[in-house]
Amino acid sequence: MTTPESDADAAREALAALRAEVAKAVVGQDPVVTGLVIALLCRGHVLLEGVPGVAKTLLVRTLSAALTLDFKRVQFTPDLMPGDITGSLVYDARTAEFEFREGPVFTNLLLADEINRTPPKTQAALLEAMEERQVSVEGTARALPDPFIVVATQNPVEYEGTYQLPEAQLDRFLLKLTVPLPPREQEIAVLERHALGFDPRDLTEIKPVASAAGLAAGRRAVAQVHASAEVLGYIVDVARATRQSPSLQLGVSPRGATALLAAARAWAWLSGRSYVTPDDVKALARPALRHRVGLRPEAELEGATPDGILEGILATVPVPR
Ligand SMILES: Nc1ncnc2c1ncn2[C@@H]1O[C@H](COP(=O)(O)OP(=O)(O)OP(=O)(O)O)[C@@H](O)[C@H]1O
Ligand SMILES: [Mg+2]
Repeated sequence: MTTPESDADAAREALAALRAEVAKAVVGQDPVVTGLVIALLCRGHVLLEGVPGVAKTLLVRTLSAALTLDFKRVQFTPDLMPGDITGSLVYDARTAEFEFREGPVFTNLLLADEINRTPPKTQAALLEAMEERQVSVEGTARALPDPFIVVATQNPVEYEGTYQLPEAQLDRFLLKLTVPLPPREQEIAVLERHALGFDPRDLTEIKPVASAAGLAAGRRAVAQVHASAEVLGYIVDVARATRQSPSLQLGVSPRGATALLAAARAWAWLSGRSYVTPDDVKALARPALRHRVGLRPEAELEGATPDGILEGILATVPVPR
C-alpha cells in the first residue's frame, strides 16, 4: 500500500537516482544539478549562465533523458519569430479552415538555448508563456502542459548582436545558476571520458528514472515542509536589505522573496528535513536572488557583483536562532 510518506520517500529516491544518471554524462557541476532538481520540484524556470563549452546544453539534455517528461529544445537565433515559439494558425486547404499548430512551448521541459541571441519580441513571447503558463494566439488562450519548465541558457560575455533580457523579465526565473569552469581534476575526468569514446550526442546510456508523477509526489511533500515565523522574517529581512543597499539600484521584489522561500523549502526536503533552517535560506539566496538585483553603475565600475553584494548582506542580516 502506498501512503503519502512512502510516495515522498520514493520521490526522493528517484531524484537521487536522477542525479546519478546526470553524473554518467556530466562530470561534477553538482550545485547546478541540485538547482535544476529544486526547480523541477518548484515548477520554476531556470536561467543557466556560463561561458561556452562548460556543458550547459549537455546538462539539460542529459537531465531530460533521465526524466520521462516531454522535452524540446529551441536554438534561439536572430531570425526566430514569436510564432516559432508559441505556434501559429495555419491554413488547411483541405478543410478550408485555419488550425493551430503548436509551437515548441507545448512541452514539459523546454531548453531555450542561447536566449540572448534572439530579439526582444521573440524573448517576450517565451517570457509571457513562462509567466502565464498559456499562450494566446488570435484571441484564444491555450494552456501549456503541466509541468512546463523552461531552462534558458545564456552567455555572460556580451557579444555584439546579443540582447540582454530586461530586468523585469529576469524576475520570472526562479533561479539563476552559474555554470563555472571545472577544477583541474574534473577537467581531466572530462578528457578521460572522451578518451574512452564518450560521445555527447549519444545519450542512450542515460535511463529515465523520474516521472511527472514522481515530481508531483515530491512537490506534495515539499508543501508540507514547515517554515517558521522566524524563517519568514529572515527571508524578508534579506530582501529588504537588498532594497537598502547603497550598491544596488534595484532590490529584490516580494516575488523574489517568495521564490527564495520556495527554493529553500525544496532544498530542506531534499536534505531530508521537514522544516526550513536559516542555512537553507542562505544556501539558496544567491541562485534565487542574484538576477533580481541591479547594481548601480558606480558599484559596477568598482568591480562589485550581485553575488558579492548578497554575500555581504547575508553576513550582516541577523540570523534567527
Ligand atoms: N563537466 C563536464 N562533463 C562532461 N563533459 C563536459 C563537461 N564540460 C564540458 N564537457 C564537454 O564539452 C562539450 C561542450 O558542452 P556544451 O555544448 O554542453 O557546452 P555549452 O556550455 O552548452 O556551450 P555553448 O555556450 O557554446 O553552447 C560537451 O559536449 C562535453 O563533451
Ligand atoms: Mg550550448
